[in-house]
Amino acid sequence: MSGPVDDRSGRSGRPRHVAIIMDGNGRWAKKRLLPRIAGHRAGAEALRRTIRAAGQLGIEVLTLYAFSSENWRRPASEIADLMGLLRHYIRAEIAEIAEAGIRLRIIGDYRRFEPDVVTLIDDAVMRTAGNSGTTLVIALNYGAQDEIVRAVRAIAAEGLDPAAIDVDTIGARLDTADLPPLDLLIRTSGERRLSNFLLWQAAYAELLFVDTLWPDFDAAALTAAVNDFVTRERRYGGL
Ligand code: IPE
Ligand code: IPE
Ligand code: MG
Repeated sequence: MSGPVDDRSGRSGRPRHVAIIMDGNGRWAKKRLLPRIAGHRAGAEALRRTIRAAGQLGIEVLTLYAFSSENWRRPASEIADLMGLLRHYIRAEIAEIAEAGIRLRIIGDYRRFEPDVVTLIDDAVMRTAGNSGTTLVIALNYGAQDEIVRAVRAIAAEGLDPAAIDVDTIGARLDTADLPPLDLLIRTSGERRLSNFLLWQAAYAELLFVDTLWPDFDAAALTAAVNDFVTRERRYGGL
């Protein structure tokens, strides 16, 4: 890995863990008078570019919001299109991802997806589990509130002494347990909200909102985001 890691004082160093809310596919398509699925397909191309760029930038962990626990509110036809694209993407990309040394992980309650999609995902995760390059974390049927509820349920089921529960007790039961702290959270498409993404993990992350629609995101955009991050001073409540 290149660059110093965050030393929790002064300049930030390079980000180890970057997350992206990949938003704006629908608007990208609308501007071109295309159906929304065309925007999602173009978004999948942006995903390929961004994964490659993250490796080149020495980012250790790249976490991407692909389907939220609230996206079930979309029309059934769009959900079916997104699931079809997910199937296609995993089948088409897994060999290259495995070859590139990328380790795939999933956060979110993805087991609620169709059984064949769950199997595809589990196989892909297993196939890359021994890799030691960039960790690619895809958020599927992910909602931060749901993630915290699941963690709290796990703690309750374990019957822990309430006085023994601290920040680490909760962190260790989140889907992101054992990933490095989130450094930089990017949202594309000009929206300035988190939409239930990584609420716990974003406690001291740097936030970056860019107007670029996700299908237009590329290596230059990711590099610009990293360059913005390194100018920031992180204080974590101290001086
Ligand atoms: C993000 O693009 C992709 C998903 C949420 C799956 P959108 O589909 O939200 O695109 P906009 O926000 O309508 O432009
Ligand atoms: C957030 O985008 C979810 C993903 C990018 C997967 P949305 O488009 O669903 O968010 P809202 O509805 O604008 O808040
Ligand atoms: Mg959106």
